Amino acid sequence: MRIGVMTGGGDCPGLNPLIRAIIKRGILDYGCEFIGIENGYQGLVEPGLARPLGLSDVRGILNKGGTILGTSNKANPFEYAMKVDGNWVTKDMSETAVQRARELQLDGLIAIGGDGTLSMAHRLSLKGLNIIGCPKTIDNDLSGTDQTFGFDTARSVCVEAIDRLHSTAESHDRVMIIELMGRHAGFLTCDSGVAGGADVILIPEIPYRIDSVIDKIKRRGTAKHSFTIIAVSEGAYPHGGTISIQGGLDEAPGRGVVRLGGSGKVLADLLAQKIEAEIRVTVLGHLQRGGAPTAADRLLATRYGCKALELIYDDLWGHMVALRNGAITHTPLAESRKEKRIDPDGQEVRFAKSLGISFGD
Ligand code: F6P
Repeated sequence: MRIGVMTGGGDCPGLNPLIRAIIKRGILDYGCEFIGIENGYQGLVEPGLARPLGLSDVRGILNKGGTILGTSNKANPFEYAMKVDGNWVTKDMSETAVQRARELQLDGLIAIGGDGTLSMAHRLSLKGLNIIGCPKTIDNDLSGTDQTFGFDTARSVCVEAIDRLHSTAESHDRVMIIELMGRHAGFLTCDSGVAGGADVILIPEIPYRIDSVIDKIKRRGTAKHSFTIIAVSEGAYPHGGTISIQGGLDEAPGRGVVRLGGSGKVLADLLAQKIEAEIRVTVLGHLQRGGAPTAADRLLATRYGCKALELIYDDLWGHMVALRNGAITHTPLAESRKEKRIDPDGQEVRFAKSLGISFGD
């Protein structure tokens, strides 16, 4: 078979190990031929962005962050942004994408991505394109799988950052706020906060009350230690307030998602009105997405890659690989569109609260 491979959406650690596993197993075990599609769906809509992928292309990439295929979180074939007479317009280019796959003589496509990439994959599969999905994102917000790859590495980076903040917070008796990614899901912040020993964890699923956060800071101040570590999701917001958006929508229509950011500053400003302690904000940003994948992410991505080949040969087009109860399995691509969120009454939050961590509610 001749299979296209594409990475879409924001990058994350684990993409290269996944590509490597697909190419290695595909060639060694199944005798497949591969075409790399560059820059996400842009490579299907526009000509000249496809190239053969062989074993030599994936040599030495197991421990590399990013993606050798490039990616884009703006190229949506159903609302493709282009300039006409100097103005940005969006056009449905999904037929072009399907046609390009035919021109490239692809028997199918492996689309690696998060919710956006995979829901577009689902829509393209309804148009007759054979697609297998592979779920990635540091946000871990896909309901079709228990875990996406990229999440473990990002979580380790966040925990290390929180550890580092601890020592300086303690020296200065400061309130240290660390703003973490995750969009509208609090998995990254919640796990990192618990593993890093944060005193307060603020996530999008639980709008916070500033007085409740202040109460926690004051209670710590009366104990021996008077510093406080607060892990706040970029998507967290105060009760009655709104989510913080950085830069707003991209100026060109269809060219991207709303950029979140600034929740740490909002929190710091609210606190500064009511407490005297010194407050500092760290925004970890894209450090969470860069660098070498952890062993856990390399393994998960490698297993997803090996499984993707099995789905192809079992004729399970329109499905994505998934992790369920420790086993690698598959689920319909339609499932990938459902968002996963932290249950405010679930075990994760209850256990954290039982340790004295405040969620600001
Ligand atoms: O979805 C992954 C993610 O890293 C989010 O956590 C974050 O909001 C977003 O991507 C950032 O996207 P960009 O790379 O476009 O700034």
